[in-house]
Amino acid sequence: MHDQAESLRRHMQKKNNLRYAKTLSVISGKGGVGKSNVALNFCLQLINHDKKVLLFDLDFGMGNVDILLGLHANKTIVDMFNEKLSACEVIERGPGGLDYIAGGSGLNSIFKADSNVMDYFFKQYDQLIDMYDYIIFDMGAGATEESIRFILASDECIVVTTPEPTSITDAYGMIKFILTRRPSMTIHAVMNRSRSVKSGYDALMRFKKVVFQFLNADIQPMGILPEDKNVPEAVIRQTPFILYNDASPVTEAMK
Ligand SMILES: Nc1ncnc2c1ncn2[C@@H]1O[C@H](COP(=O)(O)OP(=O)(O)O)[C@@H](O)[C@H]1O
Ligand SMILES: [Mg+2]
Repeated sequence: MHDQAESLRRHMQKKNNLRYAKTLSVISGKGGVGKSNVALNFCLQLINHDKKVLLFDLDFGMGNVDILLGLHANKTIVDMFNEKLSACEVIERGPGGLDYIAGGSGLNSIFKADSNVMDYFFKQYDQLIDMYDYIIFDMGAGATEESIRFILASDECIVVTTPEPTSITDAYGMIKFILTRRPSMTIHAVMNRSRSVKSGYDALMRFKKVVFQFLNADIQPMGILPEDKNVPEAVIRQTPFILYNDASPVTEAMK
């Protein structure tokens, strides 16, 4: 499967005179650290910078991008596989010009049952990379043998963690899992729910140091997002936080 991801990347590099998407997997070790909110609002912010963006809900456990958007998807990724639809047929339109593919339950059993499913995915993915500037995979927490294939098919990863030691330890484990399979993977880190810029920055730097020391890898600090009550409020309103409050601390940080 690693070879498949490699060959896809080579194939994409050959097309370098065409537009093709940069793909990023938003990952974490621990659940509930803010991946989906980061992925969604990061996408909307890229759109504000005139990028064409697709958000792909690939949480094998419980996809919830459409819940965060307050929308009901007509088709999901599960339908794409079950009904052999093209990726274009399952793209839904969200707010602010966002295109997304909704997650669905039962993804894991599709992958366990059918060994050709990844080939089908790569065919669809190949079409999508010509259509967008960025494709963002919103992954579930941790990784299974199934979900790691998608992570390895992306160009780079964004690991989301909070300053809590449990979240940091799990993020470290996740990075190790990925680097064992692809040592050259570029990994960015977001420190979410920080109490202050200083404490978030310190936690990010400590994390970077530990990864460098024990995994010999250089993670790229991407940013610090504050603990902000606007996030749960926006989730309850089923509105992305940058659309919910344009001037909140978390929106300012995301920008
Ligand atoms: N920066 C933040 N400030 C306050 N609460 C947050 C923040 N980020 C996430 N949360 C809370 O954590 C919950 C889980 O976020 P979510 O993006 O669904 O996590 P994940 O996708 O990692 O499971 C949100 O519903 C929200 O209540
Ligand atoms: Mg999520």
